[in-house]
Amino acid sequence: MTETEIVLKNVCKVYDNGFEAVRDVNLQIRPKEFIIFVGPSGCGKSTTLRMIAGLEEISSGELWIGDVLANFLEPKERELSMVFQNYALYPNMSVYKNIAFSLEIRGVKKAEVDKRVKETAKLLGLEEVLDRRPKDLSGGQRQRVAIGNAIIRNPEILLMDEPLSNLDAKLRGQMRVELAKLHETLGNTIIYVTHDQTEAMTLGTRIVVMNEGVIQQVDTPERLYDNPVNQFVAGFIGSPAMNFIDCTIQRNAAVLQMGIERIGCNAKIAGWLEDIEKRSDLVVGIRPEAFLDEYRKEKMQRDDLGDDQKMIVTITHRELLGNEVLLYFDFCGKNCCMKASVDNYAKAGNMIPVWVDVNKIHLFDKETGKNLFYEKNFSIGKEKANR
Ligand SMILES: Nc1ncnc2c1ncn2[C@@H]1O[C@H](COP(=O)(O)OP(=O)(O)OP(=O)(O)O)[C@@H](O)[C@H]1O
Ligand SMILES: [Mg+2]
Repeated sequence: MTETEIVLKNVCKVYDNGFEAVRDVNLQIRPKEFIIFVGPSGCGKSTTLRMIAGLEEISSGELWIGDVLANFLEPKERELSMVFQNYALYPNMSVYKNIAFSLEIRGVKKAEVDKRVKETAKLLGLEEVLDRRPKDLSGGQRQRVAIGNAIIRNPEILLMDEPLSNLDAKLRGQMRVELAKLHETLGNTIIYVTHDQTEAMTLGTRIVVMNEGVIQQVDTPERLYDNPVNQFVAGFIGSPAMNFIDCTIQRNAAVLQMGIERIGCNAKIAGWLEDIEKRSDLVVGIRPEAFLDEYRKEKMQRDDLGDDQKMIVTITHRELLGNEVLLYFDFCGKNCCMKASVDNYAKAGNMIPVWVDVNKIHLFDKETGKNLFYEKNFSIGKEKANR
């Protein structure tokens, strides 16, 4: 169990060629957090992690590990372990040796090593394969050996850079569950890098969303999803992604004008719109589940949604996902995606009614990407938390 907090203050990274990979990162990582760095390729996730690990020099700013300023500590002085995307196992050593290695080079006694290897193997479900060579393991097992090697020293802080990216989708799903369990058992801090937002949403106690070297938002998965600070976060978190449609708000009317469609707002949103300057350069964000077909509207007893929120759309594509259906339709020049009921058999070419759940819409400034409802939603979130 760890009590160590990690704090980054105004941390920047400028590589030797002058490229600014990480800009002014401020972050407080609490003990025992499973914190995830997520963002598109090249946004600076690995660079940030490597600066925490001590594998990359910090250009400016401060890194605190506990009450120690860690900028100039050697990696091995930092009480942390790291698992990489392309983890290297020793091909000629058994699984046992691969796991034991990091203890053996530190001169730990044989009996103690043996005890710890067996405990670690049990935790990771590797007891049966300890005698095998890495080449005789499945991808998931190999991944677990690499994790075993990292956790056997019981590090207070575990850093992982895309540890599951080499696995197929099914194994990734299984390993995700195992990692979550492992975190509960070990009670250490895990700092985890991924570009996969599903991994981030399911594993993280908090998620750090980065773009172009800059932290966009740090929050719990739920709050990131429900109240993204800007259009980038809104589009990055959630699958299928949020639909974005250009819109205008009308003077003195609680109406969103999207192309030829007019969607009437409810009292809450109308109140929020009053505070917003009436402008034409706005973007409304609607998640696939915030479009309701007649079946879901009925099931959810959403009698509050009426003709003002209804539009008629022509389906362009249907995707069956087992327990739900995704329906695609063109709307204001965009191909939009909605979650529909499995009872909805509409297919390409059919025209169906769709309601916009106005309670769940987001409104962005087209130019800055800022979520104009963020503060409003934020105070509602705070009220809920205080209750
Ligand atoms: N040694 C280096 N010299 C110059 N630029 C670098 C160096 N290492 C990385 N970069 C650049 O810094 C930026 C951030 O790289 P980083 O590896 O942190 O991205 P990432 O978010 O981990 O991306 P990915 O998801 O692809 O792993 C990228 O644009 C990358 O090209
Ligand atoms: Mg990376």
